Amino acid sequence: MGASPTPRIPMPELLPALSQRRARRAFEPRPVQPDLLNLLWQAISVAPSHGNTQSARILLAESAEVHDRLVAALSPGNSHWAGAAPHLFALVALPAHETPQENSDGTLRDMWPFNAGIAIGNLMAQATFMGLTAHPMAGFDEPAVRAVFGAPPSVRVLTVVAVGYPGSPDSLPEDLAAKETMPQERLPLERILAVDRWDPVLEVSAREWRKQQQPA
Ligand SMILES: Cc1cc2nc3c(=O)[nH]c(=O)nc-3n(C[C@H](O)[C@H](O)[C@H](O)COP(=O)(O)O)c2cc1C
Repeated sequence: MGASPTPRIPMPELLPALSQRRARRAFEPRPVQPDLLNLLWQAISVAPSHGNTQSARILLAESAEVHDRLVAALSPGNSHWAGAAPHLFALVALPAHETPQENSDGTLRDMWPFNAGIAIGNLMAQATFMGLTAHPMAGFDEPAVRAVFGAPPSVRVLTVVAVGYPGSPDSLPEDLAAKETMPQERLPLERILAVDRWDPVLEVSAREWRKQQQPA
């Protein structure tokens, strides 16, 4: 009896869907159906968290008043495009719900930003899968965002996210329209992966690497 042929291992890839996610800034004005928004919140809800603490919360701006106040809490570089997105929400965390991990040298590792990061990653993947843009922003004033929702000072704001259907880049100023269609740029894998031992090549920042790519 001859050896049976090696079965072909199917390689289903999630990667194409993940790499189609882009931080787009042009939005269609039409709102996203409530059922689809609900799937985004579910994507956050199913995210894993250290000790299953589930310390991330979603603060959705729904009324025109809260939406406008949230836009005003964004940096000027963000407010002019994100204000046109049909939906804005803040992803916040309750650090008091978590116990930091302690290292042998006494330093602590907070888990709440990590947990929230996973949650927003889930949401962005689900949004991309449904043909939506979900663009996270770090450019905002944290106390101002807390004030918009009347959240207590113990609440930490990780990101404000603009959500909607991708719109035409023509709706943006020229510099942002150009960014909209730029190919995605990432460090090559050998710059981010070391096997068995730390590699000094990992220390090269994306900024430095970008400079190295430019012709002298
Ligand atoms: C935590 C975080 C904060 C970000 N903050 C901003 C922001 O304040 N304004 C903005 O225009 N883009 C922001 N971005 C989008 C990044 O600039 C974008 O993801 C990056 O340039 C890579 O482009 P790509 O997502 O289209 O691949 C942020 C992204 C992340 C993950």
